Amino acid sequence: MSLSADVLQTAAHTYGTPLYVYDAAELDAALARVRAAFGDARVYYAMKANPNLSLLRRLHAQGVGFECVSAGELARAAHIGAAGDRILVNGPAKTPGEYATGAQLGATFILDREEEVALLPPASRALVRVNPALNVSTHDHLATGAVGSKFGVTLDQAPRVLDALRAAGHTALGLHVHIGSAIRDAHDFTAAFHRLGELRAHTGPLDVLDAGGGWGLGADLHGIAREARAAAATFGAQLWVEPGRYLVAQAGTLLTRVVGTKRTGRNFVLVDAGMTELLRPMLYGAQHPVTPLWDRSGPDTQDGTWDLAGPACESGDLLGRDLTLPDPQPGDLLAIHEAGAYGAAMSSNYLTRARPAEVLRDGNTWTVIRQRETPQDIWRAEEGVE
Ligand code: LLP
Repeated sequence: MSLSADVLQTAAHTYGTPLYVYDAAELDAALARVRAAFGDARVYYAMKANPNLSLLRRLHAQGVGFECVSAGELARAAHIGAAGDRILVNGPAKTPGEYATGAQLGATFILDREEEVALLPPASRALVRVNPALNVSTHDHLATGAVGSKFGVTLDQAPRVLDALRAAGHTALGLHVHIGSAIRDAHDFTAAFHRLGELRAHTGPLDVLDAGGGWGLGADLHGIAREARAAAATFGAQLWVEPGRYLVAQAGTLLTRVVGTKRTGRNFVLVDAGMTELLRPMLYGAQHPVTPLWDRSGPDTQDGTWDLAGPACESGDLLGRDLTLPDPQPGDLLAIHEAGAYGAAMSSNYLTRARPAEVLRDGNTWTVIRQRETPQDIWRAEEGVE
């Protein structure tokens, strides 16, 4: 995130807080880094990371496709004009409506279980998701390729499912693997791709290997890309990838204002954002870098150690712990970084809290890409029902 403290101050002043701010230059830079590492691999953005239409349109204009896992995500893809081989339909429990919409759009399906062969629309194109049965370096909730995880078919089942697809008149494009999210150790990918490569003897050559996403923000993309390309080459396949977090996380910042402080069992800075705006710290113990946007570092100021507490009546509603902040005062602004992925996307209306506005900074221009909700927006579906 390259936006200066001044620019962030202006955004908070103009649009209010809590506020999600995105930096267009960093969005473009992230895609450029992916393309530099993965060369001519096809990129499908996992839109669950941030489904904002303006971000989707920007990626679509740059040739990126979309991985969709719900009727709503498919509707977003269709709404911005994506179709055909620019759409993947994924998910462990697809509904009849999702198969039908995927077929209408000409999308490619990712099969998560053998039983789906019979559920696919006639003459579908499909990949088979393989669970490589590996433990990976991330939070348990973010690991998807472990032996007991609900995703994919086993290594043993995969060749049979490819055959079953062909026998049923579908096009079996190849294999798919996604071992989890926010993966810290690149060796996890090496191990997963290696296990897939071992299937070559049983599958023969394939058209596509989809290596999923899951890259942590500090990931060695070139290293992961090298391994993924080698695995694809084993099958003589084209490489596809599905990054979510990597493409949008660093471009996004959550701005929140200090409401006040209290010193009880611990020192708390109370802020106007919390679990309803950014659930990741509470749900996964995620640590987002936090910077104060004020300067009060005079000789009399003593840095304190503070927990960042949100407004919800839940003890777990903390956005950070043990932060060093110089004398926070009501009205001060804090920037919570790396919040572009799974931040706004997982925000909620719990406590009838209106979800924040989202703004995009492109050059010197601000665009509101999502209006701040109102209480009326939240209860609209409850009115006029009796
Ligand atoms: N492909 C598949 C099949 C996936 O399930 C996912 C993410 C991705 C790609 C993109 O993964 P990424 O590159 O973003 O790691 N809410 C969690 C993350 C859940 C990710 C679920 N699947 C979080 O806040 O960290």
